Amino acid sequence: MTGTGRGRFITLEGGEGAGKSTQVRLLADALAACGVAVVTTREPGGSPGAEEIRRLLVSGDTGRWGGLTEALLHTAARRDHLERTVWPALDAGRWVLCDRFADSTMAYQGYGLGLGREPVEALQRVALGGFRPDLTVILDLAVEQGLTRTHARRGGEDRYERMDLAFHERLREGFRDIARREPERCVVIDAAHPVEAVQAAILDAVTRRLGVGVP
Ligand code: TMP
Repeated sequence: MTGTGRGRFITLEGGEGAGKSTQVRLLADALAACGVAVVTTREPGGSPGAEEIRRLLVSGDTGRWGGLTEALLHTAARRDHLERTVWPALDAGRWVLCDRFADSTMAYQGYGLGLGREPVEALQRVALGGFRPDLTVILDLAVEQGLTRTHARRGGEDRYERMDLAFHERLREGFRDIARREPERCVVIDAAHPVEAVQAAILDAVTRRLGVGVP
């Protein structure tokens, strides 16, 4: 199982409170309405083992893990998720929509925690080989606006939401840098717009980049 089957792999990325989960749901509904077999999943998590690793990552003190340890944990969770969930679905011809993927490790651990690009790229070479998303949608939002949304939603109990503003500014810039480096894979969408407008921009990107007509 390598994920090189007929399915397409679309990832949604962005900082806290950018609306990824909502947009994953809306995109899944739109694709399903076109007759596409869709699987939605998330990282860290998406398989039983990866969900266990998730618990280690999102709870506890902000400084619980060093940057490299944290990147290793996210990468271990990702490998399990790929082997157990993502690649089998793609090989069966399904489309997989994933709430966060490898770009989150680059943005959060590489840029946010200051680990740098090289160690994260090395981990990705080992864990992913040449596997990459067919399309990555990066939802871009001002840091304060995103954190206000997440705090209103669930009181900011997540470890990452409690990290300081400078951390969140660095990871936002990290996502933008990733998009500049890989423009053929990534599209940046302004997440400050209303949900419907963001949804329309995502559908437009899917139609143009992957060549499917989504009404
Ligand atoms: P979620 O709140 O979007 O479900 O993600 C949980 C947190 O994990 C989120 O704050 C971002 C963080 N994260 C990383 O730091 N590195 C990663 O590789 C991934 C996938 C998520």
